[in-house]
Amino acid sequence: MKRLSLLLSAFLALVPMLSASSSKPGVTVSEFGRMPDQRVVQLYTVTNANGLKMDVTNYGAIIVRLYVPDRDGKLDDIVLGFDEFSGYTPDSPYLGAVVGRYGNRIADGKFTLDGKTYTLAKNNTPNGVPVHLHGGEVGFDKVLWNAEPVSKDGIHGVKLSYTAKDGEEGYPGNVTVTVHYWLTNENELKITYAATTDKATPLNVTQHTYFNLSGAGVGTILDHEVTLDASHFTPTDKGLIPTGEIAPVEGTPFDFRKPHKIGARIDADHEQLKLGGGYDHNWVLDKKKPGELSRAAVVYEAKTGRQIEVFTTEPGIQFYAGNFLDGTIKGKQGRTYLYRGGLCLETQHFPDSPNQPNFPSTILRPGKTYESTTIYRFSTR
Ligand code: GLA
Repeated sequence: MKRLSLLLSAFLALVPMLSASSSKPGVTVSEFGRMPDQRVVQLYTVTNANGLKMDVTNYGAIIVRLYVPDRDGKLDDIVLGFDEFSGYTPDSPYLGAVVGRYGNRIADGKFTLDGKTYTLAKNNTPNGVPVHLHGGEVGFDKVLWNAEPVSKDGIHGVKLSYTAKDGEEGYPGNVTVTVHYWLTNENELKITYAATTDKATPLNVTQHTYFNLSGAGVGTILDHEVTLDASHFTPTDKGLIPTGEIAPVEGTPFDFRKPHKIGARIDADHEQLKLGGGYDHNWVLDKKKPGELSRAAVVYEAKTGRQIEVFTTEPGIQFYAGNFLDGTIKGKQGRTYLYRGGLCLETQHFPDSPNQPNFPSTILRPGKTYESTTIYRFSTR
């Protein structure tokens, strides 16, 4: 009996490896862990026709692994994360997760909507200023989503959905959010978001994957070259809350309209870089029409030749250079994630929009459907 159970557990330990080593296009499902209340947490492995592979868990809609080729065709995992479910503790800095109900910051954890003031958790204190961040204490990144494999026209992915209750984390309205992750045969991670509500509520969902094109846990991102299709950004105060100004990037270290290495100017003598501890700002994307799917960013790493192009329907992008990573996180394969060892490209509406009447609105009302698309296209040059 004991031998049998040993054999069984040895076999079960192999299951994730078996699915990870299969390169047939499609989706396989395995168990990743258990929630404290014993609900099963799944891992979905999606493979495209070119052998790109992505592991997604329904805990936090987290992208756990993403293997893309370098210019010699060698696959590496380029996203920060943990091998074990137990790595994703509540203080994990949103590695790979969908953040919401309101991704990014809300000043003083307060907003007024239709004459009523709502109070939210102040779960973040940049430069000592308490603010609301990424949906509060238990945001979309820390809950179990419903998930299922999806396939359409030879493209495979995962559909995840979550209903946040009226009053959850202080926000009004029962909100149902659906996220699709597709790994297309053009080597894109295509993400579509949809949401509905039964009461007016702010909503701003985004994806908080940390990329390192040299491979997760291989050095810093300071040598990555970044292009941002934005001639303006939203400067912040000490609490990293936008001042309301839409400032030109021209003549500042925030001008990425032509490619620049991240490390070239990140420590420049600029007040905004001091406040952010480096790049941690919202760029206002140059769009011909609001809501059009247009290019937002390009990131390139010269040694591996890997490149990501980002396209989005969102008006802004938070380019975060991993300034709060402090070298204490031990991630996948025992690798330590260094200070600035990963970068996020969070396509979004602007931070603190519920308190900033001049910013594009983030209020979702009953009867309306929120829709948003972001594409991360992987290639080499
Ligand atoms: C976002 C914020 C950063 C930081 C990270 C999480 O990217 O803009 O300031 O809080 O999330 O660590």
